[in-house]
Amino acid sequence: MTDPADVYRSRSDVERLFVQGRLKPLLEAWGMTASAGGFWLNMALFFRWLTMFPRHARREAEVAILAAGPGEKAERLVTRLMDTMEYLNSRYGFLTNGKELRLYEKRPGEEVNLRIQFDADEFDLHCGELKVLLGLPVDEPPAETVEAFVEPQTPGDGEERPVTEGPAALLFEPEEDPEGEEEKGMKVIAVYHNKGGVGKTTIAVNLAAALRRKGYRTLLVDMDAQANATFATGLLKFQFEEDDDILPRYVYHVLASGEFDFIPEIARKSAGFNTPEIDVIPSHIDLTNHQNNLIQMGASRRRLTAKLERVKDDYDYVIIDTPPARDLYAEISLTAADYLIIPSDLRPFANQGLNNVKLFIDAVNENRRNYNEPPIQLLGVLPSKISTNAQYQKHTLPRHKNTVRSKYGLPLLETMILERMPLASSLSRTVSEGDMDVPDPKSIFDFYEAERTVSAKEAAGNFEELAAEIIKITRGKP
Ligand SMILES: Nc1ncnc2c1ncn2[C@@H]1O[C@H](COP(=O)(O)OP(=O)(O)OP(=O)(O)O)[C@@H](O)[C@H]1O
Ligand SMILES: [Mg+2]
Repeated sequence: MTDPADVYRSRSDVERLFVQGRLKPLLEAWGMTASAGGFWLNMALFFRWLTMFPRHARREAEVAILAAGPGEKAERLVTRLMDTMEYLNSRYGFLTNGKELRLYEKRPGEEVNLRIQFDADEFDLHCGELKVLLGLPVDEPPAETVEAFVEPQTPGDGEERPVTEGPAALLFEPEEDPEGEEEKGMKVIAVYHNKGGVGKTTIAVNLAAALRRKGYRTLLVDMDAQANATFATGLLKFQFEEDDDILPRYVYHVLASGEFDFIPEIARKSAGFNTPEIDVIPSHIDLTNHQNNLIQMGASRRRLTAKLERVKDDYDYVIIDTPPARDLYAEISLTAADYLIIPSDLRPFANQGLNNVKLFIDAVNENRRNYNEPPIQLLGVLPSKISTNAQYQKHTLPRHKNTVRSKYGLPLLETMILERMPLASSLSRTVSEGDMDVPDPKSIFDFYEAERTVSAKEAAGNFEELAAEIIKITRGKP
């Protein structure tokens, strides 16, 4: 449990209770030498300025720590921290006023840079990240992700190692009839980012599959005219237009009428995609032809919301895959959803798009208020297609994550979906039928059962973790 920030009444409280009482001992327990402000350091700095205190007399510490008073703005002490870091020859410097904690770093040949900033109350939550930023070994990750750190595999490295140990069921046993005290009710989750190709569809379909495997009744809604989620769930296997059985009955029909075409008439079972299968409201390229007339019918904006309300006893989770645009279909998705996941590869373009996503959320929430509905709840930015390269994970990833938090003010989900070839190949899989290659896409779980490779196992493990995190947040399940 962290110290409540309001117990600090003065700078010396922050120094004594937080810096000397918690931060410094923790850094020392991690094997680092740390020197906190205080009288003697101030005197030394004072004499250094006054008399050019001989450099050989200075003390060394890997980390310098400065405390400000509770009412003081921490950034006002940055220059002093830099002096202190230089004096102590420290690579790292912490600044805290008891409410927030900032870590600065001075790499050889570079300026001092802010590496991370968070509420001091959330100190415990950030210990892992601090260790990464301080260049310390992190605690062992859970068994199924260990290999991702020590044996980086990149898509395209080709060589797949078969899994030899243990039955597959050990990791991926579906839990029918989830038990335990948890919040009931249908939860609608939109997966949205206006940037294309960040992994929205891959995440939407595999999250739906993972929740279904845990026994939750799951409906996937494809709101994107590209119909990638429809394809991924095995519903676009026909080879000739005349066999197109989607066009007469797809998501457009749900939006076009308030009187007809309710969800049970439009939804169908995924085909060979997952065990057990999920329900899907498919999409079709024809959806692009209807945007203008649906916009003119103002009522169409809330039809998905209204029709989902009628099936609220039939499903536990509804996952909505959205288009990479700020268009009517994205607006309908965010209007119908209780929760939002924003997948992002965390690279600069995806991050720069986050401001647009925030503006879009604000606009949708304004509308929801007019209907006395609560705002959409942001589950967080979900790091997606994250390189398995150990150096990237150690050095660049923490900075990318920090940008999302500090520059865009958005929370991150704990789970990360790493870049792994099976997540692409499972959804573009084909089988030969006569002289034709017929699509045979699989969820990452069924793909793993079929292929039994290490990277498929690890990719499936990411989705197991994601589903567990989502269930925990949306149902309070331990
Ligand atoms: N974790 C991953 N590892 C490897 N490849 C991935 C991963 N996630 C997605 N991909 C691949 O990246 C490409 C884009 O993924 P996806 O279609 O899921 O993104 P999207 O955000 O839905 O795109 P769009 O904006 O066009 O709808 C696809 O080829 C997919 O197979
Ligand atoms: Mg997509």
